[in-house]
Amino acid sequence: MRVLVTGRDGQVGREIAGRQAAGLELVMAGRAECDLSQPEAIRRLVRSTAPEVIVNAAAYTAVDQAEKERDLCFAVNAAAPGILAEEAARLGALLVHYSTDYVFDGCKTEPYVETDPVHPLGVYGRSKAAGEQAVAAAGGRWLVLRTSWVYAAQGKNFLRTMLRLAQERPELRVVDDQSGSPTSAAAIAAATERLVRQYGARSCSVPSGIYHMTAGGSTTWCGFARAIFAATAGPQPLLIPIATADYPTPAKRPANSVLSNQKFERAFGFRLPPWPQQLAEVLAVIQ
Ligand SMILES: NC(=O)c1ccc[n+]([C@@H]2O[C@H](COP(=O)([O-])OP(=O)(O)OC[C@H]3O[C@@H](n4cnc5c(N)ncnc54)[C@H](OP(=O)(O)O)[C@@H]3O)[C@@H](O)[C@H]2O)c1
Repeated sequence: MRVLVTGRDGQVGREIAGRQAAGLELVMAGRAECDLSQPEAIRRLVRSTAPEVIVNAAAYTAVDQAEKERDLCFAVNAAAPGILAEEAARLGALLVHYSTDYVFDGCKTEPYVETDPVHPLGVYGRSKAAGEQAVAAAGGRWLVLRTSWVYAAQGKNFLRTMLRLAQERPELRVVDDQSGSPTSAAAIAAATERLVRQYGARSCSVPSGIYHMTAGGSTTWCGFARAIFAATAGPQPLLIPIATADYPTPAKRPANSVLSNQKFERAFGFRLPPWPQQLAEVLAVIQ
C-alpha cells in the first residue's frame, strides 16, 4: 500500500518515517518536495504519487508567530488540508489529518468531547479548526485526529526545552494552571500506522470523522516538567509553579486542553499509552 506522508522533517513525520512499516511503501515529502502554501504543488505531488493513503503530518505549528503570519498559517493549516482531502477523494484514498486541542478555549472543566463546539483563542487554533472543516467538506474517506502537547526525542518541544534549560539555570518557572495530555510523536506514529493498515485499502470503508487521540491521563506543564526531571539523571533545577498570567505570550492558550479519547477507543478498539509511559519511552531514546 502506497502512503504519501507530508511533514517529513517534523516530529510526527520523522517518527512515521522511522517505523519499520513492513508492507507499506512510504513516500515521505518535506518542504523541498512540496510547499504546502502552494495549492498547485500539492495537487502535483498527490497526482504524481497516486497514493492509497495520505497522512498529513505537516502544519504551521508556531503558535505565537502565527499571530503575525495569519495568511501563511491559514494557507498551510486550512487551505492545504482541504486540497489534500479533495485530491484524496478524487483517488478514493484515505486522508489522515492531525488537529489540535487548541481548537477549544479551555473553559470547560471536563475533558472535551468531539461534539463540543470549537472556540479557538488564537490564529493557530482558528486555522486548524478551518482545516478540519475543509477536510470534512471535501467528502471522501478521512480521519481527523486531534492530539495535544506533542513532543519527541528530536525537534522543538517542551521536553527538549526543559532538558536544555536545566543545563543553563538552577531554577525554572513553569506554568501550572494549564492541563493537558503530553503525547509523544512516537505514540501518534504507531497509532497512525495501525489505522492506516486497518482502513487504508481503497476497498475498505472508514468511519470518517473527528477523533480525539491523546495519551491517557493528564497533567500540567509544571507536572510534566517534574516528571521529566524525576526520570532523568542530569541537573535537577528547582521548579517554581507559576500562573499563565505570569508568563504572557502573544497567543492565548486554553487552560483545559484535556480531550476525552472515548470515541476513538470505541471506534478503533485501542488507546494510546498513559503519558508517563510515553515519556519513559522517549527518555529511553534520548538517554
Ligand atoms: N506540536 C504540538 O504540540 C501539537 C499539538 C497538537 C496538535 N499538533 C498537530 O500535530 C501535527 C504534527 O505536528 P508536529 O509537532 O509533528 O509539527 P512540527 O514538528 O512543527 O512539524 C511540522 C512540519 O510541517 C512542515 N511545514 C510547515 N510549513 C510547511 C510548508 N509551507 N510546506 C511544507 N511543509 C511545511 C515543517 O517543515 P520544516 O521542517 O521544513 O519547517 C515541519 O517539518 C500537526 O498537524 C500539528 O498541528 C501538534
